[in-house]
Amino acid sequence: MSSLFSQIKLADLELANRIVIAPMCQYSADDGSPTDWHMSHLGMLSNSGAGLLVIEATHVERHGRITHGCTGLYSDHNEAAFTRVINHCKRIGTAKLGVQLAHAGRKASSQRPWEGGGPLKDSQDPWPTIAPSAIPFGPNWHTPREATEDDIARVREAFVNSAKRALRIGFDLIELHYAHGYLAHSFLSPVSNKRADRYGGSLENRMRFGLETARAVRAAVPKNVPLGARLSAVEWRDDGITDDETVAYCKALKDAGLDFIDCSSGGITSDTRTPQELGYNVPIAQRVKREVGIPTRVVGMIITPQQAEEIVASGKADMICLGRAMLDDPRWAWHAAQTLGAEVPRTQQYLRVGPKLWAPAAQKRAS
Ligand SMILES: Cc1cc2nc3c(=O)[nH]c(=O)nc-3n(C[C@H](O)[C@H](O)[C@H](O)COP(=O)(O)O)c2cc1C
Repeated sequence: MSSLFSQIKLADLELANRIVIAPMCQYSADDGSPTDWHMSHLGMLSNSGAGLLVIEATHVERHGRITHGCTGLYSDHNEAAFTRVINHCKRIGTAKLGVQLAHAGRKASSQRPWEGGGPLKDSQDPWPTIAPSAIPFGPNWHTPREATEDDIARVREAFVNSAKRALRIGFDLIELHYAHGYLAHSFLSPVSNKRADRYGGSLENRMRFGLETARAVRAAVPKNVPLGARLSAVEWRDDGITDDETVAYCKALKDAGLDFIDCSSGGITSDTRTPQELGYNVPIAQRVKREVGIPTRVVGMIITPQQAEEIVASGKADMICLGRAMLDDPRWAWHAAQTLGAEVPRTQQYLRVGPKLWAPAAQKRAS
């Protein structure tokens, strides 16, 4: 009996298995609105057999986007375009659908990766950015403006408004993007937050932006709809947040009403290097799950079904999040089910695949 393929419930949402498709920016939106690319890409992934598909970092205000091609939920047009895509995925697919709400902070106003991934040049329609402190993300990056209390209140309200739009669209789950050096993470991190007011300095103050935002969104999202956050739970720097601080933050987020935590890592400055070892975030996820007692997801170089199965079966994390492996093989979950002897949700048009296709080959191998 596979643990990876056992059901899990987050708030009132039942997921068919523990496989989650990681949010992955496609840089293919039009002023925040998803396009035909998203119809194909998300349509494909919604039929991957994963229990949950989390849609890419979707920004709560126009200036909070990473690039000109990033998705947003800041306009009626964005909401209508997302409604079309999500209705399509629900009609044709099997996965539950989540959205990651984000504000890029000092990493906004960037080029798409295939345009270089650096800060937008003057000729590329850049825009002013905000951050906890006026410190650039790296050498040659633009200098953000230190966010005022008005900015903080406006962004918090923008998270709430985008969450309301997500609920109207019919998303099954909402995730707050508190990772990878974007605005919320940059408030938590002592590397990027040098403020002297109540949003900087002590851990309590550095947590304030994330906690206030989480509480405000929670107040707008009914209890039956799962709300969680993705964190950079490790910064991979000696001067960064400690594991103890991560655990304290997760406890506070749980108290703020969050239903799950996703452990990612890194991204606070342009020269921070994230390890590329198998399952590099598993140790911190294991600690969060054990010490915070909140449903915990882990992401990062989880590649094979056996690796994913071992993490869940041994209780290190409750859910497995896959990014690149899912782009490489959008039927990863089908193939994992075959390897682990489990069932996977399949759309009726594809029911003739699976055991019917593979059983004779397995019998032949066994004989
Ligand atoms: C193309 C691409 C886009 C990504 N966009 C996002 C994003 O929108 N939000 C996010 O939190 N992480 C994003 N990530 C990071 C992934 O969600 C994931 O955490 C990372 O790729 C490590 O997992 P993996 O080893 O399974 O790929 C992106 C990664 C890729 C490859």
